[in-house]
Amino acid sequence: MMNFYILTLFPEMVMNGLNTSIIGRAVNAGLLSIEAVNIRDYAFNRHQSVDDYPYGGGAGMLMQAEPVYLAHEAVSEKIRVRLSEEAAGAAAKRVRTVYLSPQGRVFDQQMAEELSQEEDLILLCGHYEGIDERVLEEVVTDYVSIGDYVLTGGELPAMVMVDAISRLVPGVLHNDVSAEFESFQDNLLEYPQYSRPEEWHGKKVPPILLSGHHANIEKWRREQSIIRTYKRRPDLLDKSELTEKEKGWLEEWLQTQGEI
Ligand code: ADE
Repeated sequence: MMNFYILTLFPEMVMNGLNTSIIGRAVNAGLLSIEAVNIRDYAFNRHQSVDDYPYGGGAGMLMQAEPVYLAHEAVSEKIRVRLSEEAAGAAAKRVRTVYLSPQGRVFDQQMAEELSQEEDLILLCGHYEGIDERVLEEVVTDYVSIGDYVLTGGELPAMVMVDAISRLVPGVLHNDVSAEFESFQDNLLEYPQYSRPEEWHGKKVPPILLSGHHANIEKWRREQSIIRTYKRRPDLLDKSELTEKEKGWLEEWLQTQGEI
């Protein structure tokens, strides 16, 4: 069971995006819980405003420290209560709190795997021009970006992270092997796949896949993964662990392609 808490000004956006398909089913099955916490509920003034002008001037508004802090405290307290009920005297641990920001470390499969080991994860979504630095210093443990581009808020990145992490939680994908054997396994992209009919638009399914010869099929798939990675993501190929035999095979294949 993994619990996500998403601190946001747009809770419906996050919940609507995560209640369908595989993630929605996993929540219903009790394998995950996803709670969007509305930071505005922790506004401390009567106008319920959560933003203000930046000191020193500059464009836009900033999210204020106090509502973010109170929302984070409320979630942390809830987690502490649950943990102490589960195990009396459980050590008060610091819950991983991710701030989604283009200034963070770029999210990748390895980070998804690491975070999927956590029992609780708090995701903090910024808006406007960001959040008052002082509260970030107090609550954030990890700064994460989903890529080198700037979005209008942290909600889509939080949803991306929840999706990528959730599918690694045992039981979420019915077929646990499929989480292992696919794109980015050993830094290779996934091989091409085919389903019925055997011929479509004049294109035939590669005959080896119809041969029933499992060892040959495995070998073909591995080779296709290598070729695909070479063509589409050569940067990954450098990080993959090809055997000497596979390196030799790739050289030969490149020669047949007239690439070297
Ligand atoms: N907020 C705005 N842009 C972002 C990005 N690329 N990744 C994470 N959070 C963001």
